[in-house]
Amino acid sequence: MGKNQSFANRINDIRRHKSSNIVLAIDPTYEVENLFDYVCQLIVQVHDYICAIKLNFHIILPLSRIELKKITQIAHESNLQVIADLKLNDIYDTNQNTIKYLSSLGFDSVIVNPFIGKSSLESAVDYAHSLNFGIISLVYMSHADAVEGYGASLSIQNENDKSKSSKPVYRMFYENSKSVGVDGIVVGGNRLDILKELRAEDNKNLPIYSPGIITQGGDIKRALESGSTYLIIGRAIVNSDSPLNKVKEIYDLVKELEYSDH
Ligand code: XMP
Repeated sequence: MGKNQSFANRINDIRRHKSSNIVLAIDPTYEVENLFDYVCQLIVQVHDYICAIKLNFHIILPLSRIELKKITQIAHESNLQVIADLKLNDIYDTNQNTIKYLSSLGFDSVIVNPFIGKSSLESAVDYAHSLNFGIISLVYMSHADAVEGYGASLSIQNENDKSKSSKPVYRMFYENSKSVGVDGIVVGGNRLDILKELRAEDNKNLPIYSPGIITQGGDIKRALESGSTYLIIGRAIVNSDSPLNKVKEIYDLVKELEYSDH
């Protein structure tokens, strides 16, 4: 699929075409022998049952430019989108350079930390969209102590009457992300109340990517019912005795629940 439409549309089309909302997180340790072959073989094995792969530092740090380019090429030939999970969180020039580099390697989108601020996020989105590259914004992480940051309360002073109000950090991240036109947000699949709250406001317009499923305690059915659009799943599939059987099992479950291409 060429890059003549937005990332959000590309992944949505694949989701519908394959009836799969599963994003496979491929995070082997760098000590794995033949890391490049390992990744390629995994993609070839499971591609019919997933809509995207997510690669993070486990792969992007140790592999070469040529190897990464080959991986994104194989992924595209298998009708998959490729998400770089770098939780990008820097000044504009660095964000822009990273997006440009990832795009040149064939990546389709990157996860960005909205902590950089609204106008920095907007600049990253505008630049990425000029390349038909996607930005997914990290609104609430799945790990237990994420509450210390994403759940913290912000004190806000009204410019006019100087009165004070408060709102949680994740609300500001969500509102900023939505208003600058990101392609999706990340909310942990084990954060059911947050998923329900944000989904209720949005009526399915903004795709929600949910990690934290199975290995970190999140339940597929409850996450989908609460509002997740895409399920990011790694270790439960990759570390199972048979990644193919495991991904099929999850694929069948999601289909049975009738959420695969909603
Ligand atoms: P597991 O093995 O737990 O893999 O199924 C989850 C994958 O997702 C990443 N991860 C997150 N990424 N926000 C993110 O952007 C999160 O809240 C979050 N929690 C987990 C993790 O690095 C792995 O690749």
